[in-house]
Amino acid sequence: HPALSLQLPELSKVSVLMRQRNKVENTLRAMQHAGPGTLQVISDFDMTLSRFAHHGKRAPTTHNILDHRLLIDEDCACNMRKLLKIYYPIEIDPSLTSEQKIPLMVEWWTKVHHLLIQQKIQRDMLAQAVQESGVILREGYEVFFDRLAELQVPLLIFSAGVGDILEEVVRQSQVFHPNVHVISNYMDFDANGVLRGFKGPLIHTFNKREGALLLAAPLPELRERPNVLLLGDSLGDLAMADGVARPHNLLTVGFLNDQVEERAESYVEAFDIVLVKDESMEVPNALLKFITSGKDAK
Ligand code: TMP
Ligand code: MG
Repeated sequence: HPALSLQLPELSKVSVLMRQRNKVENTLRAMQHAGPGTLQVISDFDMTLSRFAHHGKRAPTTHNILDHRLLIDEDCACNMRKLLKIYYPIEIDPSLTSEQKIPLMVEWWTKVHHLLIQQKIQRDMLAQAVQESGVILREGYEVFFDRLAELQVPLLIFSAGVGDILEEVVRQSQVFHPNVHVISNYMDFDANGVLRGFKGPLIHTFNKREGALLLAAPLPELRERPNVLLLGDSLGDLAMADGVARPHNLLTVGFLNDQVEERAESYVEAFDIVLVKDESMEVPNALLKFITSGKDAK
């Protein structure tokens, strides 16, 4: 179908990998036909909506934003970095199965949350830490968030990061529109606004299926929307759509940020569209535009 290729030149960039372009095109056409009223977008946050790197430097995750002297001391920061050095390579290791990774991810998150709780972090300091963190959303994020809001398409941000920080980043980026829903690890503060724990079940990179069934499935805004555009940067993110009751069309986009050569094959196998070292929302925005512009695209 050459017409579609013409309408989506973004899919022909060298950084775009697809196992089955035909399937992608058919899914896009079906989603376009069904219209924005049937669509929901489910996205990971860290390294998916936020950038992996900027000007050659790694950008922070929501956990790493907490590495600010207003919030935690040097000792705690040093311990968190040590844990990152141990566990992040495990998180992205293509030779391990998610079953093998799960206990280690639980260990990582649990240790980090314990360290944070010891720091008596004050809620009032979070906004400033975010402001000074250098966190940055992918280029073109405004178009992405604004278009979804305009069309009243729900956006579920599903993150194993820290929910309070994530919300602050989205707020400071001025895109926390009413259609945005967040599932994440939220801090629990005492009456004085001091961190005393984390709320709810722990979400890590490889248990998003449980979170989807428990926390996303009941959301009334998402229930009657069977067409899903999913964005992630980890194979674990694919489970974010497992709570959708009767999915009709699912299109998955994976950002491959790191260890590109080692992981390309598994990403192409798992995601419909893989974006290699792409720090922008250009492709997701083009997909959205296609799906939601029925008349002129037909
Ligand atoms: P995400 O689900 O929004 O991508 O958030 C999870 C990411 O957070 C995951 O890729 C690993 C990262 N992370 C850190 O950077 N530092 C930490 O201390 C922990 C526990 C996770
Ligand atoms: Mg991520």
